[in-house]
This record gives sequence, structure tokens and C-alpha cells, in this order.
Amino acid sequence: MDPQEFFALFAAERRPDPYPAYREWRERFPVARLSEQMFAVSGFAEATQVLRDPAFGHPEPEYLDPADRLPDQPVDESGRVVRAFLSLNPPDHTRLRRLVAKAFTPRMVERLTPRIEELTASLIDGAGESFDVMTSLAKPLPVEVIAELLGVPLDDRERFAEWSHAMARALDPSFLQHPDTIEPAVKARQSFVAYFRELAEQRRGSPGDDLLSALVAVSDAGDVLSEGELLVTLTLLLIAGHETTTNLIGNGVLALLRHGGVVAADPERVVEEVLRYDSPVQLTARTALRDTELGTVAVPAGSQVIVLIGAANRDPATGPETFDPSRAPGRHLAFGQGIHFCLGAPLARLEGRIAFGELARRLPGLKLAGDPTWNATTTLRGLATLPVVSGK
Ligand code: HEM
Repeated sequence: MDPQEFFALFAAERRPDPYPAYREWRERFPVARLSEQMFAVSGFAEATQVLRDPAFGHPEPEYLDPADRLPDQPVDESGRVVRAFLSLNPPDHTRLRRLVAKAFTPRMVERLTPRIEELTASLIDGAGESFDVMTSLAKPLPVEVIAELLGVPLDDRERFAEWSHAMARALDPSFLQHPDTIEPAVKARQSFVAYFRELAEQRRGSPGDDLLSALVAVSDAGDVLSEGELLVTLTLLLIAGHETTTNLIGNGVLALLRHGGVVAADPERVVEEVLRYDSPVQLTARTALRDTELGTVAVPAGSQVIVLIGAANRDPATGPETFDPSRAPGRHLAFGQGIHFCLGAPLARLEGRIAFGELARRLPGLKLAGDPTWNATTTLRGLATLPVVSGK
């Protein structure tokens, strides 16, 4: 097979609606062998298998010569680059995820509800007659929430949003990546690590009632997060939790406005249908950790497998091509599956529920005021602009 045919699925002109091409691809190749050691799965069953099966994971960490590593990249005592648990296999993944989950609890998320409601209401009320949903609501809300959750001082939040954006732009797999995104992302990561190192030091001395202080102090049967683990975990939480939620809100408002308006059914159902219909995370990847199979296709150890979440979520096994916000929630892969299932799903769902609920309550007559534009990223699918009129 010519891998170019696969890459063409992500061409710029398809950005407004890649789904007809995904559908055609999925019907022809639920499992595709793109080259000797590169596969792509787009069927729901096959994608679920890759995410759940321990035969697929992440490449084992390479040991870098400390002299070769990037400045400020955290390393452990043996010079090993410290990676966030999103890209680790058990047992390291299990240990770190358990520690972080002890600090980042559903109770902590639930406690944020009144603050998220207040923030959302003030952003919507301050938006004016005609506005851009991305600038006025979808971008500021998640960054404020995660900054507040972590306990980042107000004055630093603008810098914080900039770094986070630069890092999110570089998440695409290498075959889709624009070379211009790499250097700003590396710089942003360094800035984050330096910033969090200082903030963690402060919280160690005088802990607050925030997630950063909880992560500094967390321990599990005598086990704690090392300095490097803490720093990469903080960076992961920030990136994983920020642009993804922005895109849930943006993609959701667009889908609602194109299908009858924001006054829809129960906001909880809206969130699940948006996640399925226009997934904020479109792709992820795994490596075959041993020789294995996908259905009847043999996959040699070391192969890379791209999981097309956006295509799998419209497999008829999951749900149709159409958007119906009153649909009873079904299965989808928008938060992944298995051991790496999104740790922030309760927070993302809460923010989405409040954003869609408050828009319906405050601006029931909201309407599109022009064509939206899309970001140039593929892994994270979302809008750059979404012009609307409030209809007040
Ligand atoms: C993992 C999606 C919001 C933190 C994941 C994965 C997906 C995902 C697909 C699995 C990736 C894989 O298996 O390769 C989303 C979406 C969100 C969202 C669509 C918003 C709509 C958040 C938030 C946070 C967060 C708000 C935290 C503040 C994480 C973390 C992981 C993760 C820590 C890694 C879990 C692990 O490796 O065990 N997310 N996410 N996410 N997400 Fe989210």
C-alpha cells in the first residue's frame, strides 16, 4: 500500500470535514499495513484491541548520554530521561498513575464545580453582541481551571497559556509534523520545567490547598514522586488538560449550532455525543512490544500502530455519522481505553457540561456569524475561530 494515501486523509483541504474520507478508509481498511513496520487501525473493534491489549505499548525508554540531553530535561540518578506516565508501560506506568490518582481525585474535581460555573458565566456575560467562541470561552476556560487547580499564580497565566499552546502544536506524529513547531515546543517545555521546579520548591516550604501541593506531598506505601517525575507529571497534566478541553467546547458549540442551536438536551448527553462525533483527540499510537496479531494480520515486534480514534468513533458499531445530542451515551474511544484511559475525564466532562449548560441558559439564541476556521494540527482537532452572534 502507498502510505501517501493514508497521509492524504489529513490534508489541509479535508480539515473542515475529514469524516467522509475516514469512513471510506475504515470500510476498506479497518486494519491497514502502511509499510513493513507501520500500521493504522480505524475500525472500532481493532482500535479498542490495540488500546487494551498489553502486546501494544510504548517504546521502552532509551538511555541518553546526559551530555546529549536537552538542557533542563529531567533525568534520574542513572542519567535516564524521565518520561511522563502517558508514554510509559507497566510497572512504571502503574506506579506513577496510582500516585498521581491519589492526589488528583474526583473529589478535588467535584469541589471545583462552583468556581467553573462562576468563571463560565463571567466569560459568557463578558462576551458582547458578536464574538469568537474560541477567544471568549473555549480557550480561557480550561486554562483558568487547570491553572487554578494546580495553584498557578494569576499573573503567570498568560505565559502559561502560551507555553501550553506551543507544546500542543507539536503533538502530531512525525509524518504530519510541521518542522516550525518543534523549536518553540522544546523551548516551551524547558520553560515549564524551570517554572514548575521553582513553584514546587515554594509549595514544599508552604503547601496550599492545590493539586501541586498534593503532588509534592503524595506518597503510596512509602513511594513518592521524584523531582523529575513531579516536573514531567505537572507538564503532562497541563498539556493533556488544556487544549483538549478547549476543542471539546469549540467542536461542541459548532456541532450544536449546525444542528438546531445550543438549547439541546441534557448537557451530559451533549458532551458524550460531541466526544464521539468530533473527537478532540483524533489519533494516538502504540508500538508492538512483541510479535502479535490484529485480527488476521500479523504485526511484527517493534511496529508502530496508529490508532485513528476519530474514525473508530463513527464506526457503525459505536454510532452513526449524524450528530444527535439527545442520543443516550454509548461507547466511544475519545478518552482512550485500558490502562491509559484519560485521568482527566471527570474534569473534562464537568467543564463541557457547564459550558454547554450555561450557553443554553444564557444565550439560547446563539447563532453562527460566518465560517469557522480550523487549527493546522491533526492529533488535536479543533477550531482556531468560531464567530457567533449572541442573539440577545
Ligand atoms: C490520557 C483525551 C482532558 C489528563 C488521555 C488519552 C486520551 C485523552 C485519548 C489516552 C491517550 C492514549 O491512550 O494514548 C482527552 C480528551 C480530553 C482530555 C478528549 C478533553 C475533552 C484531560 C484533562 C486532563 C487529562 C482535563 C487533566 C487535567 C490526561 C492524562 C492522561 C490522559 C494524565 C494519561 C493517562 C495515562 O497514561 O494513564 N486523554 N483528555 N486529560 N489524559 Fe486526557
